[in-house]
Amino acid sequence: MTAEHTDPAARFPSDFAWGAATSSYQIEGSPGEGGRGRSIWDAFTAEPGRVVDASTGEAAARSYRRPEADLDLVDRLGLTAYRFSISWPRVCPEGSGRVNPEGLAYYDRLVDGLLERGVDPWVTLYHWDLPQALEESGGWPERDTAKRFAEYAAVAADALGDRVTRWMTVNEPWCAAFLGYASGEHAPGRREPAAALAAGHHLMLAHGLAARAIKDAAPAAKTGLGPNFYPVRPATESPEDRDAARRIDGLQNRLFADAAIKGSYPDDVVADLVSVTDFSFVADGDMRTVQAPLDFLGVNYYSSFTVSGRAGAPSASAAPTDTASAWPGSEHVGFVRTGRPTTAMDWEIDPEGLTGILTLLRDRYPGTDLVVTENGAAFDDVPGADGRVADRERRRYIADHVDACAAAIAEGVRLRGYFVWSLMDNFEWAWGYTKRFGIAYTDFASGARTLKASGEWYAALVRSARGDE
Ligand code: NOJ
Repeated sequence: MTAEHTDPAARFPSDFAWGAATSSYQIEGSPGEGGRGRSIWDAFTAEPGRVVDASTGEAAARSYRRPEADLDLVDRLGLTAYRFSISWPRVCPEGSGRVNPEGLAYYDRLVDGLLERGVDPWVTLYHWDLPQALEESGGWPERDTAKRFAEYAAVAADALGDRVTRWMTVNEPWCAAFLGYASGEHAPGRREPAAALAAGHHLMLAHGLAARAIKDAAPAAKTGLGPNFYPVRPATESPEDRDAARRIDGLQNRLFADAAIKGSYPDDVVADLVSVTDFSFVADGDMRTVQAPLDFLGVNYYSSFTVSGRAGAPSASAAPTDTASAWPGSEHVGFVRTGRPTTAMDWEIDPEGLTGILTLLRDRYPGTDLVVTENGAAFDDVPGADGRVADRERRRYIADHVDACAAAIAEGVRLRGYFVWSLMDNFEWAWGYTKRFGIAYTDFASGARTLKASGEWYAALVRSARGDE
């Protein structure tokens, strides 16, 4: 541990949120229990070849059966905040209409359990588990899905808004739209680039409508959006590489954030996409809805990209996906390795990139509060004979990224919190149970959790940041 790591209190404001994050489909399991409806991830994981280990979220980390196990972990870590998501089909099994009281009761209990432990609940409404019934009516490429989302947001805020003040509407719209509907690596597995752009717009419309519905139900609520951001650097200073960097930065970092904060899609991105879509799905008045008052911008940060615009550039999996089809209109762009060390996802480790993206967002969207709503790393953890996981690399990753946050604060960034992804190992989407991101180890056979060394370290950091020692 460096000297810097030992003195968090001096580097972070006293009301800084220290948390960890999870999502419903990745941890809950029990898709058939408590009246939950089917989601697109239930349907997707049932299709052969979609998930590397052919697994599903049937058991996951078993959080639906034992929310106390999660509460115990949060308590043990001494977190001030816990970010979890609500499963839309648990609350509205058909996506709209009938509300399932048993589903709401689960989240009610979780929220009360957090508050009893002095932990601030941060609720995400959409972490990718769209009710399958809505996908069958067309999914996110259909405008109506955004309206159904606003109804669900109102139901959730009516039930929990007296106790929950932090709400995130949509987690990683880029993934939901482009991995779901363009590259097809995520549910619902469609490969329709034009529909993916419509999906992206309707996710943003859903964000704007939901933010208003939440504030109507709970006037003290603070609402935010959680895109995944990556600094994008050109491989060389050639015009082709610089243009490739502009394009990927546009689709990845500006498309959704500009819409939410500036109320417009970036002109250059719209121009890049002219052969894919004419944006005719944007109706009059939509952008004013999308530009709902934003109390904070979530920043999910894992890695950075270095890109090349030369045809036939060596493509590397430094990107979160193997295929450029996840960036519509940019199929000629190559993702280049820089030689930085990588995690088990093969994502390059770049803590300075976090300081870089935070200061870039500060410059692009002055006055916006930022929160690192996800940051973490998968490594191939193996418990020792004593059952402990000595995950030095993850500890280092988190420590270096916490330092990167401190550096951003020192540069004047209004950073309000940091959430580790993830509280515990869980279902990593198309990677199934083969990638572990937790600061607690999950024994998937029993659901038992054990803090890893990184978790012990994070608990000590949070304790000293809170001034408890
Ligand atoms: C971002 C997503 O929000 C989360 O669901 C996922 O598990 C992590 N990244 C790691 O890939």
